[in-house]
Amino acid sequence: MDNSKIKRYTVTAALPYTNGPVHIGHLAGVYIPADIYARFLRSNKRDVKFICGSDENGVPITLKAKREGITPQEVVDKYHKIIGDSFKEFGISFDIYHRTSSLTHHQTAADFFETLYDKGVFTEEVTEQYYDATAKQFLADRYITGTCPNCGNENAYGDQCENCGTTLNATDLINPKSTLSGDKPILKETKNWFLPLDKYENRLREYIESHKEWRPNVYGQCQSWLNAGLQPRAMTRDLDWGVHVPLRDAAGKVLYVWFDAPIGYISATKELCNYAKLDVWNPKAEEYYISNFESDKCDWEEYWKSDETKLVHFIGKDNIVFHCIIFPAMLMAHGDYTLADNVPANEFLNLEGQKISTSKNWAVWLNEYLREFEGKQDVLRYVLTATAPETKDNDFTWKDFQARNNNELVAVFGNFINRVVVLTHKYFNGIVPTMMEITPVDQAVIDELATYPEKISASIENYRFREALSEVMNVARLGNKYLAETEPWKVIKTDEDRVRTILNISLQIAANLQILIEPFLPFTEERLMKMLKNGGHTWDAAGGINLLKRGHEIGEAVLLFEKIEDAEIEFQIEKLNKSKASNAASIAEALPVKENIQFDDFTAMDIRVATIVAAEKVPKTKKLLKLTVNTGIDERTVVSGIAEHYQPEDIVGKQVSIIVNLAPREIKGILSQGMILMAENAAGKLTFVSPVDKFGEGSVIR
Ligand code: 2FM
Ligand code: ZN
Repeated sequence: MDNSKIKRYTVTAALPYTNGPVHIGHLAGVYIPADIYARFLRSNKRDVKFICGSDENGVPITLKAKREGITPQEVVDKYHKIIGDSFKEFGISFDIYHRTSSLTHHQTAADFFETLYDKGVFTEEVTEQYYDATAKQFLADRYITGTCPNCGNENAYGDQCENCGTTLNATDLINPKSTLSGDKPILKETKNWFLPLDKYENRLREYIESHKEWRPNVYGQCQSWLNAGLQPRAMTRDLDWGVHVPLRDAAGKVLYVWFDAPIGYISATKELCNYAKLDVWNPKAEEYYISNFESDKCDWEEYWKSDETKLVHFIGKDNIVFHCIIFPAMLMAHGDYTLADNVPANEFLNLEGQKISTSKNWAVWLNEYLREFEGKQDVLRYVLTATAPETKDNDFTWKDFQARNNNELVAVFGNFINRVVVLTHKYFNGIVPTMMEITPVDQAVIDELATYPEKISASIENYRFREALSEVMNVARLGNKYLAETEPWKVIKTDEDRVRTILNISLQIAANLQILIEPFLPFTEERLMKMLKNGGHTWDAAGGINLLKRGHEIGEAVLLFEKIEDAEIEFQIEKLNKSKASNAASIAEALPVKENIQFDDFTAMDIRVATIVAAEKVPKTKKLLKLTVNTGIDERTVVSGIAEHYQPEDIVGKQVSIIVNLAPREIKGILSQGMILMAENAAGKLTFVSPVDKFGEGSVIR
């Protein structure tokens, strides 16, 4: 977008699902980069609205409520507060933290849907969906589990197999089961409203291709969606929690959560500006976490419907299609809205080499971090920015966290500030000394200092926050180098005037750092502001050397950062090890390890690859299937206790492993010759142990 055209910015951060607290992966992926960007814009006196809120609709919320035996509203009330508080405590400076269970949101989303409906955008389709006859309700994809047709995982969900990552339709699942009643669901007809994405394909392609500057991961994902061809997608769901579909014949239906969630950005802006207009203290400010608005300058439509507004969505990589394809298609269909100028999506952050997992408690939770590292929000902000997964997945380790704190924040940034402030107090009673004669060494530092604000701005404007932060650290390095070269502690013995100049310049560098670090480490900026008694500067002042006037009295030195000791890091690693051990223990408890055997006991077993050629239920039993298998040696009958896990018709042709030399035994009147090997998980689910690639029958397994 042509910079000279930009009058205002709408910056959004993905609305987090309100079914659990937030962890470092969320902060690193979305909220810290978005906050840096918004703070930077404000420091540049640009008109910006930084928008977020809780994503309170959708199936994950209802599942959580069912699991905890409470209502969905109770779930979202609880986590809206916990998440909102964590963001506030980490200095994420939203102008509003709204929520999608609010009336404003329900009305805005319903109106949006109605507009599209009135324009004839939707197609109506009657499809067969799974229905639980016992629970008397249609089943969202996440309410159905079954066997993945791709990898055989028996706990695949109706929308995705978490084992092999395949995207599924619920009807693809083998042996589907309702998680509500445990019954096999039936297919029942239902009407839903579809957004014909295929009709927007050309316009979307044009839109995406006009943004070749987007991050390659984002641009590439969009291209592959477009190349695969877009299909109509249902924008309504048969569910009882969410925004009701505003049509007469839509009882029991709500808007698809990915239809209403991005509209959440719009409704939040509306709420923000509506209260701003009232020009009174907003009683909801605390609840909704509203700040920074200027009462006479807020018309929500300007932030969404003007081509002088730059819209930027900060998201994680799993949200790309929704923000770059589906939401833009919705906005195009509506017609009044501007499209995002950029969608800087981050990749994922891992923790100590493993994927962050809520269910395995493999995470650093923000509320726990704050308890254990009180007042050290900026240390985490620093480390998560310095290691941000901007172009590829990245790893957070506690050792790296400690090293970056001790070697960079303490040794470089903190050390420079501390030396300058302490020396100013020591030699000049805390008064900014007059700059006297300037030497070539001084001039070189002054000139270099002047180059940083522009460099850092360019990095931030191009969403390269790691690079920007490392340049800010280079300013602190410049300061340290200057002090080391000029040695004021030695020169003071012979030439006080020279020290005046050195400390004046050093103090100017410190004041520059205060401005430049603010978007990244706002708590540090506040401490610096108190220490230097220096407020009110904006980005345009950075680079200059007249930020602290001579004669100005600075405050006392306080330590900005302190060393993190090994014991604190070991405690954190120990905590993670406990999670690992308790995950392992739950498997060991359900499936205890057997006594050791000798190698000969193992080789005595003759295990082969075989293929199932026929399968049928053993009459009057619940668990047994009679299988005919081709072992490569012969075709034989095996009775197997897998009827609760597989339908006979689904397993013909499957390759399996069989012990062929197990003594034959009679089971329910059938002679079973061998045993099929099955893997069993802690929950008692079974799956075949099969060769990864198709393999000849009779091949030996050893
Ligand atoms: O992935 C998520 O956590 C979603 N709740 C993000 C929604 S972003 C937006 F569209 F609201
Ligand atoms: Zn799978």
